[in-house]
Amino acid sequence: MRQLIAGNWKMNGLGAQLGEIESIAANAPAHADLLICPPATLIARAAEAAKGRIAIGGQDCHAEISGAFTGDVSAEMLKDAGARFVIVGHSERRQYHGESDAAVAAKATAAWRADLTAIICVGETEAEREAGRALDVVGVQLAGSVPSGAPIEATVVAYEPVWAIGTGKVPTNGDIVQMHGHIRARLVAQLGEGARKVPILYGGSVKPSNAAEILALAEVGGALVGGASLKAADFGAIFSAARKD
Ligand code: PGA
Repeated sequence: MRQLIAGNWKMNGLGAQLGEIESIAANAPAHADLLICPPATLIARAAEAAKGRIAIGGQDCHAEISGAFTGDVSAEMLKDAGARFVIVGHSERRQYHGESDAAVAAKATAAWRADLTAIICVGETEAEREAGRALDVVGVQLAGSVPSGAPIEATVVAYEPVWAIGTGKVPTNGDIVQMHGHIRARLVAQLGEGARKVPILYGGSVKPSNAAEILALAEVGGALVGGASLKAADFGAIFSAARKD
């Protein structure tokens, strides 16, 4: 399966940074799929700059199509602006905006309604890992955030341990393999055998120096990259490390 290397720009990026997207698109490899999720203000221009060579996505969406929700953006609006994907349930949304598993599931359903692929994020905190609860916590998040009947071809799961995001810390290879295997088993239990095709991305401090090692691990279907996706050179070093099989 081709790996998906996705960049999450978070609240970073002005028009002046569109050149990074042009450069990423110009160097897109044949052996992996690339996605950049810029802030909503840049999606339309980013989609133009990408020239169809890489996908563009949103970082969040509202569950409703439209209405009195000041400041929010619907999945249909992202699609209309040129997005093909949307991240839902990123830990920063869960933490700073109080998003529950049920809210994340509703956003994933909205993504599918708008014909977008949903990247559903899960991951434990440091305290939860230290307490030996990481597998259970992620299992509960999957049960609550991945709706039954999820369309396999439009579903991606990202495992992002909260303590690894933006910290430079990464789990051991063994811990990544164990968690990705656990997520695969839970997805198959929830969605059926078809769920073997759902890509499971790893996210949290992926950088040029560790990308090849992480992307070679069993059940790692790609990466969700924050800080190191902002510069085309760093992101290029990461996507070049995608598996070629
Ligand atoms: P990071 O962020 O790569 O900067 O750790 C990953 C993410 O939050 O998606």
